Amino acid sequence: MYQPAITGTGVFTPELAITNAELVEAFNAYVDMFNAENAQAIEAGEVTALERSSTDFIFKASGIEQRYVLDKEGVLDPTRMYPKFRQRSDDEPGIMTEIAMDACKKALDQAGVDASEIDLVICAASNMERAYPAIGVEIQKEIGAGGFAFDMNVACSSATFGIQAAADMIRSGSVKKALVVNPEITSGHLEWRDRDCHFIFGDVCTATVLEREEDAKGPHWKVISTRCATEFSNNIRNNNGFLRRNRPDGVADRRDMQFMQNGRKVFKEVVPMVSKHIAQHMTDEGLDAGDLKRLWLHQANKSMNDFIGRKVLGREPEPGEQPNILQDYANTSSAGSIIAFSKHSEDMQPGDKGFICSFGAGYSVGSVLVERV
Ligand code: COA
Repeated sequence: MYQPAITGTGVFTPELAITNAELVEAFNAYVDMFNAENAQAIEAGEVTALERSSTDFIFKASGIEQRYVLDKEGVLDPTRMYPKFRQRSDDEPGIMTEIAMDACKKALDQAGVDASEIDLVICAASNMERAYPAIGVEIQKEIGAGGFAFDMNVACSSATFGIQAAADMIRSGSVKKALVVNPEITSGHLEWRDRDCHFIFGDVCTATVLEREEDAKGPHWKVISTRCATEFSNNIRNNNGFLRRNRPDGVADRRDMQFMQNGRKVFKEVVPMVSKHIAQHMTDEGLDAGDLKRLWLHQANKSMNDFIGRKVLGREPEPGEQPNILQDYANTSSAGSIIAFSKHSEDMQPGDKGFICSFGAGYSVGSVLVERV
């Protein structure tokens, strides 16, 4: 058995950002337009008037201040409210592979690993731009990796589930060096015209290099153990899938073909699930809260993370103990906890331990216990 370690991480951040003010201005223009166009039907009680959004609500309910996006123009056009992506030919890399390149390069550089040494690529994300060939195989080709690759989707928990899969393969000896890549183009599955969720998501890509600890060339993170759990729930759901054309009721603009959630229920049900999950993982490892230096949590909602931090640590987390990046990135699905880890871990000392933990649709929760070496 080999000891797996995280030796590099990388974050690709799109150049374009949308502030809450810009988002709400476009959303409200859409609402005004819709209500004007449907004035008669609204008056007759046949159509429900749409309500305007507010920056105060968004910040208070979520802690989000802005989000990065691959396309801003399409999202902010009140007559469109959907990103404009160029249709690519089959002979050029897809958009997920394109953003993966930057994150993979940064992670490989940090690890001091050449892409040709990688023998496993897992593309772990909430949405894949096509069914096959796997996006992971395209990333493997474009970066010049060897071995094999595949895609996996566990929604917001994809990154930690991917890390567990890679760490287990390294532990057993079936692979030596792995890249877990999380290209999250969440702007494509978000309904930007839905007031309840239009502010939630942002685009990003993260990448994590894992290898045998004995091969690490510099400071790294020992993966002590991982835990994954799932429990079925309809409270976060997207019905888009390969059978959509077979449905009898037409599918072109059906609301359930994009991200849907019952946010309140998610909040109430996922907070205890995650707190218990981390507590059990700690017990299994013989750790108590005093042994933990940091929690890098899934980045969906600030109050949710505050709750989980308080439950796990049994006290108010100190500033920096549970870093959030959602104010700048919003919810980036599986990539969120990896962004937090990548940007807020350099200062930790040898022997310091922490949990990377993601959670979301499924429901799913994955925790990775790491120690600085
Ligand atoms: N602007 C202004 N008001 C808004 C609004 C907006 N954009 N969206 C909703 N509101 C209103 C609602 O209509 C409601 O009004 P009412 O009290 O008069 O009925 C009120 O604000 C509260 O809405 P609610 O949806 O209950 O807000 P919330 O406090 O639950 O916050 C979320 C919403 C989504 C931010 C929060 O529930 C959440 O983050 N849940 C967890 C989500 C999660 O982790 N999902 C995983 C996704 S991968």
